[in-house]
Amino acid sequence: MASAQLFLAAALAFIAAVDGAAPTAADVTKLRLSSGASMPVVGLGTWQVTQDQELEAALDAALAAGYRHIDTATIYRNEHLIGKVISRWLKEGRVKREDLFITTKLPVFGMRPADVPDFLNQSLAKLQLDYVDMYLIHMPFAVKREAYEDGRISADGTDTTTDHLAIWKAMEAEQKAGRARSLGVSNFNESQVEHLIKNAAVPPANLQIELHLYHQQKAIVDFCKKNNVAVTAYSPLGSPGSKWLSLISGKELPDLLSLPDVVEIAARHNKTAAQVVLRHTVQRGIIVIPKSSNPGRIQQNIDIFDFTLSDSEMAKLDALDKGLEGKLFDMKFIGGSERHPEYPWTALL
Ligand SMILES: NC(=O)c1ccc[n+]([C@@H]2O[C@H](COP(=O)([O-])OP(=O)(O)OC[C@H]3O[C@@H](n4cnc5c(N)ncnc54)[C@H](OP(=O)(O)O)[C@@H]3O)[C@@H](O)[C@H]2O)c1
Ligand SMILES: *[C@@H]1O[C@H](CO)[C@@H](O)[C@H](O)[C@H]1NC(C)=O
Ligand SMILES: *[C@@H]1O[C@H](CO)[C@@H](O)[C@H](O)[C@H]1NC(C)=O
Ligand SMILES: *[C@@H]1O[C@H](CO)[C@@H](O)[C@H](O)[C@H]1NC(C)=O
Repeated sequence: MASAQLFLAAALAFIAAVDGAAPTAADVTKLRLSSGASMPVVGLGTWQVTQDQELEAALDAALAAGYRHIDTATIYRNEHLIGKVISRWLKEGRVKREDLFITTKLPVFGMRPADVPDFLNQSLAKLQLDYVDMYLIHMPFAVKREAYEDGRISADGTDTTTDHLAIWKAMEAEQKAGRARSLGVSNFNESQVEHLIKNAAVPPANLQIELHLYHQQKAIVDFCKKNNVAVTAYSPLGSPGSKWLSLISGKELPDLLSLPDVVEIAARHNKTAAQVVLRHTVQRGIIVIPKSSNPGRIQQNIDIFDFTLSDSEMAKLDALDKGLEGKLFDMKFIGGSERHPEYPWTALL
């Protein structure tokens, strides 16, 4: 990881020196993964965008703004729309397959080894691709396949037989077959990642976890850096659109973009609060996948390579971390997850 970090720092410093102009795909720093692939440090999140025109317009805006990395999942039920747009861009010669970085995820209802080729094939068909760049195990816990129907997971569907290593072997077979260039996990805790690192033939190249100003994940990020696992921050802006979350948790959603420190630093750099928040995470060597359906905000969220936060600004933002208290997603809304032996956040039980 040391070399990847150095590469990132050097690239960021170089890009910061080229001031002013709108970013292009080439301005977006990439992180070298243990698999040998390179992953753009800004990607487009697509969760909760299933309306055809909204997602197609967002993807067009993102590709035009220089995004090459797109994050989706089986459970987002939008892979077919992403496939439609990227195949159009590929056909028109506006982008090359090798420049795209497409991530999708094995669903919580596909957590048996034999499910892996089946769900990956379904994703590839919808995406109109013959490989994905990153295939992640979406959750460490599991429900039975029949527990999922039409976007809903029944609460009594828990499958407690989950064997991470056995599933991972099936993931490795997909990588060998060329259907997934890199492999990783999401929502796994440190022990669960370590278990794979210690026992698998191919270590996970990427861990995707909730990470934002109020939940900075310092310990697991350090662990991943030591072990050459790239970290992707999901909900990097604090998921301000997920209003339903405060309804089920009874907690108010944080408004990270109005925090006085953030607003003050943004004004100093003539940048928006969102750009400062994303830049802070990227400058920690972490990949971000902000979701937006608004062309202006999509453009804004990738335009973070023409400024650098100073050490004291970084320290000020580092200090806003609330640890576990700042966590938004406990995933208890996924039927029975907290009764599963691999539920990752035991401190929340
Ligand atoms: N692995 C997992 O379990 C998991 C869990 C959650 C999320 N994810 C991934 O991470 C992605 C991002 O997380 P997220 O969607 O939860 O939340 P997020 O990216 O933190 O926040 C998205 C929200 O912020 C708004 N927004 C975006 N850019 C903005 C800007 N520049 N200024 C002000 N508001 C802005 C968006 O509204 P507009 O659209 O109106 O701009 C949207 O409501 C997801 O889409 C998904 O791909 C993965
Ligand atoms: C997945 O697709 C590959 C290549 O098309 C095929 O060989 C394999 O049998 C498929 N597996 C399943 C479970 O559908
Ligand atoms: C501040 O940023 C805006 C939007 O990017 C730009 O139009 C404006 O020229 C900038 N102002 C200065 C003083 O750099
Ligand atoms: C990770 O989750 C497992 C399964 O619940 C648990 O046994 C372990 O203690 C957790 N590790 C950490 C570091 O939280």
